[in-house]
Amino acid sequence: MDKPNTLRDAGGAEAGRDQKEAVRRALEEYYRAGKPPWDTGVTPPELVALVEGHGEGHDALPPGRALELGCGTGTNAIYLARHGWEVVAVDLVGRAIELARERTEAAGVDVRLLHGDATRLDELDAPGPYELFFDLSCCCGIPPHRRDAYVAGLTRRAAPGARLLMFGYGPEAFDDPISGVTADELRARFAGWELVDTTPGTNPVPTFWFTLRAPTG
Ligand SMILES: C[S@@+](CC[C@H](N)C(=O)[O-])C[C@H]1O[C@@H](n2cnc3c(N)ncnc32)[C@H](O)[C@@H]1O
Repeated sequence: MDKPNTLRDAGGAEAGRDQKEAVRRALEEYYRAGKPPWDTGVTPPELVALVEGHGEGHDALPPGRALELGCGTGTNAIYLARHGWEVVAVDLVGRAIELARERTEAAGVDVRLLHGDATRLDELDAPGPYELFFDLSCCCGIPPHRRDAYVAGLTRRAAPGARLLMFGYGPEAFDDPISGVTADELRARFAGWELVDTTPGTNPVPTFWFTLRAPTG
């Protein structure tokens, strides 16, 4: 996807709760309308490199427990499960979870799919701890006033040294005033975590792959 316009109608004068509802409505509409533009069905090479290793000094990650935030129709949850991970995958949109369920069943993999809010993990059956969190373009669309809750939910569920691999659009990529994420924001919000890598994406608009490590002890 070149430029994300998921949330174009979600900003403006709307604030707080309204903002969150507007985001949800915009996302639901994408799934209702058919195949959303981000649903490529392809696992990104950045996740493949982390899971399978990519050359000397970059060993494959031993499989453990993974939590995917904003799993959509399940492409990457299925990939992780196929590579030996015990996967829990969450999405705000019920239709996305239905499609993910169909796809995981067709793939014959076991993924625990949860319809819910990544900023309210305590309301879901996802206690963790997790060695890996994966977020492909979920956090960058979460309204700013819910992002600390997102971080707290991951922090409470992080195994020592857990990794978070996150793809996010920069704020410049959106037409609305609430979306987008930056390295500075992640450093500030993820207190105690280390931002170990920021790699620009290849999209025509600003995008980044962020890798964070949870505290080890
Ligand atoms: C750009 S889509 C990417 C979907 C999927 N990761 C993929 O690559 O196909 C972002 C996803 O995050 C979900 N999402 C957005 N806000 C969320 C939230 N607060 N909690 C859970 N999921 C959320 C959306 O419903 C959507 O499926």
